[in-house]
Amino acid sequence: MTQARQKQGKSVFIRTYGCQMNVYDSERMAGLLKPLGYGVVEAPDAADLVILNTCHIREKAAEKVYSELGRLKKIKTARVRDGDEMVIAVAGCVAQAEGPEIIARAPVVDLVVGPQAYHQLPELLARATRERGEVLATDFAVEEKFDRLAERQADGPAAYLTIQEGCDKFCTFCVVPYTRGAEVSRGVDAITAEARSLAVQGVKEITLLGQNVNAWRANAPAGGAGSDGSTWGLGELCRHLAKIDGLARIRFMTSHPRDIDDGLIAALGEEEKLMPYLHLPVQAGSDKILKAMNRGHSAKTYISQIAKIRMARPDIALSGDFIVGFPGETNEDFEATLALVEEIQYASAYSFKYSRRPGTPGAAMPGQVAEGEKNQRLIRLQALLEAQRAAFNRAQIGKTLPVLFEKPGRHPGQLIGRSPYLQSVHVDAPQSMLGSIAPVRIADVTPNALAGVLVRKAEVAA
Ligand code: 5AD
Ligand code: SF4
Repeated sequence: MTQARQKQGKSVFIRTYGCQMNVYDSERMAGLLKPLGYGVVEAPDAADLVILNTCHIREKAAEKVYSELGRLKKIKTARVRDGDEMVIAVAGCVAQAEGPEIIARAPVVDLVVGPQAYHQLPELLARATRERGEVLATDFAVEEKFDRLAERQADGPAAYLTIQEGCDKFCTFCVVPYTRGAEVSRGVDAITAEARSLAVQGVKEITLLGQNVNAWRANAPAGGAGSDGSTWGLGELCRHLAKIDGLARIRFMTSHPRDIDDGLIAALGEEEKLMPYLHLPVQAGSDKILKAMNRGHSAKTYISQIAKIRMARPDIALSGDFIVGFPGETNEDFEATLALVEEIQYASAYSFKYSRRPGTPGAAMPGQVAEGEKNQRLIRLQALLEAQRAAFNRAQIGKTLPVLFEKPGRHPGQLIGRSPYLQSVHVDAPQSMLGSIAPVRIADVTPNALAGVLVRKAEVAA
């Protein structure tokens, strides 16, 4: 190692794939490494440690890891030739699902660490460098991880906060129950402490994260309202966190239709700090397919849930996930998905071609749909969803929305913020407004954002 680099401390490059949960985990890994002298860098080339925080949800996502490891091998070989060192770690869901295979297929990897074990990163790293052999850590220790991750540093005015992990639903297409394990909820006190500490550091908005965030359940905290030993659901938790001074906005994701309860719907209707945006994946609109997917709900129950939620919070923006080409999906089944989308009217959505995942029941089902057919269906579905998104965005023109300014824009004098509906909003505003919430009149829409102008206080009052 050169003297210059020793003086500057060590560096870590983290590449994050997949969902918000991984974004949160990557931030926490950076936080765990900071006391060891690691600073985060933007490129892998000169990093002492490279972490790939991987996603296993679809085949393409998993394959990306191996091609990235191929590129890293070249960098590492050149570095080692120059007498330098580089530790390569694979974290996340591919690590969990394919740990031994990664080590066999990519000997360049020094450390494989699963999503429930990364809180042990400092020790594992020490072991990997000491033993100079591959270290594999994929044990499930979620509760221990939650305890260990209590302290953290905020990075900007909006932050993720994990409150729940894992999934017991076993949708037949999905690897998550195998990679992230059973549903585990974090306790109220630990969540509250993390939220308070974020608020003290200037965080205005928290997004509560969980694979099935609305399956979150925990004992009410001792000593306050509800200390009678009752169990809280997500609605009660949100109301509790809304009492924290400084926190102005609360969001949560991802929810499952099976776990939407009246307590949560009531909170959405009554708690102003809860933002009017709900990500509630439905995956498909045909009951036959929903059953084959083991979703535990029908199209009708989903639609009536949405009606109830809209009654409680009429301005709520809805978002969903969709899969086209699940085994056995006929044209007629696919048309049912389009019909459901027409009925709901989404503000945003994510849609995917079914990807056959080894070990899941769907992979072995008869009636696998041809790739060309999946492509056709995805194009049609995405056109419809995109038209709905554009219409929702256009409908904001002329409205005044509170915007939380999160980061500088690309142009000088511009800031980028978020509307309550999670839209990106570009505004000319002074840097001093970063981290604050201010009213913005929406003037225009671009393909991926809204554009608006700051509304002066006098105008708002008028
Ligand atoms: N193929 C395609 N999409 C999938 N998803 C999960 N598993 C698969 C799969 N095997 C999608 C679902 C889920 C989102 C996170 O990813 O829509 O809600
Ligand atoms: Fe996967 Fe279904 Fe669990 Fe969501 S609810 S993580 S799609 S198994």
